[in-house]
Amino acid sequence: MAPTTISSLILFLFLLGSVATATVFTLQNSCTQPIWIGTVSGNGAALLNSGGRLSIPFGSSIQLTAPAGWSGSFWARTGCNFDSSGIGKCAIGDCVGGLKCTGGGVPPATVVNFTIGTASNNKDFYDVSVVDGYNVGIGVKAEGGTGDCKYAGCIADLNRYCPKELQVIDNSGSVVACKSACAAFKTADFCCTDDHSTAKSCNPTEYSKLFKSACPSAYSYAYDDTSTTQTCSNSNYTIAFCPVIVG
Ligand SMILES: *[C@@H]1O[C@H](CO)[C@@H](O)[C@H](O)[C@H]1NC(C)=O
Ligand SMILES: *[C@@H]1O[C@H](CO)[C@@H](O)[C@H](O)[C@H]1NC(C)=O
Repeated sequence: MAPTTISSLILFLFLLGSVATATVFTLQNSCTQPIWIGTVSGNGAALLNSGGRLSIPFGSSIQLTAPAGWSGSFWARTGCNFDSSGIGKCAIGDCVGGLKCTGGGVPPATVVNFTIGTASNNKDFYDVSVVDGYNVGIGVKAEGGTGDCKYAGCIADLNRYCPKELQVIDNSGSVVACKSACAAFKTADFCCTDDHSTAKSCNPTEYSKLFKSACPSAYSYAYDDTSTTQTCSNSNYTIAFCPVIVG
């Protein structure tokens, strides 16, 4: 190769590297119990960490790196028991695939969704959703990015405010998750199906309003205000489970 070809190739690789950098997620467990991260990828993107292999003890964190253009979600699984080959179950947030999720979590679970930008459109989109219920608080903090990099999350302990008819109770009698009204009652108005399947006909309900008042920056029902979606560019993110500090 001619020296000019080589230097333009080096320049090209340098530019490629500088615009489409990987995004580092730091997943932090501040819950007083161990959690097992569940993660799935959208758009046929590669699974991070083979679908959430690692458990995180209280007070610890793990890092996962996503390539440009990655999209997918994270949630916390709790009350899990896996054998050495990864076969087992979780009481809350269980997924198909055992230790390594190959599909989404069983509701109720608080979910954080991400779409990471690409070189041509470098905006990352992220939101925390309690549309499918709540299990633990999640807070997302952008680090080092530019743009609309607001804190997103549902950091209130919704299990404490969960109405009786939505509560999921463990063997010791503690509320460990709070179902969505759709999951509890399976009606079209709560699920935003049939006559209620458009943004106009799917309205907030007494239950989604309760979730919204506890967690104003999270999605509370299918057509919730899209201002709850944050956009930020070229950032890393800390995703805290059971966060104690806002900001
Ligand atoms: C979050 O992602 C899941 C799939 O991973 C999807 O079913 C859900 O609709 C998304 N929620 C929001 C509010 O974007
Ligand atoms: C994201 O984290 C990586 C690895 O620690 C670091 O090299 C990079 O500079 C960080 N990016 C931002 C925008 O802070």
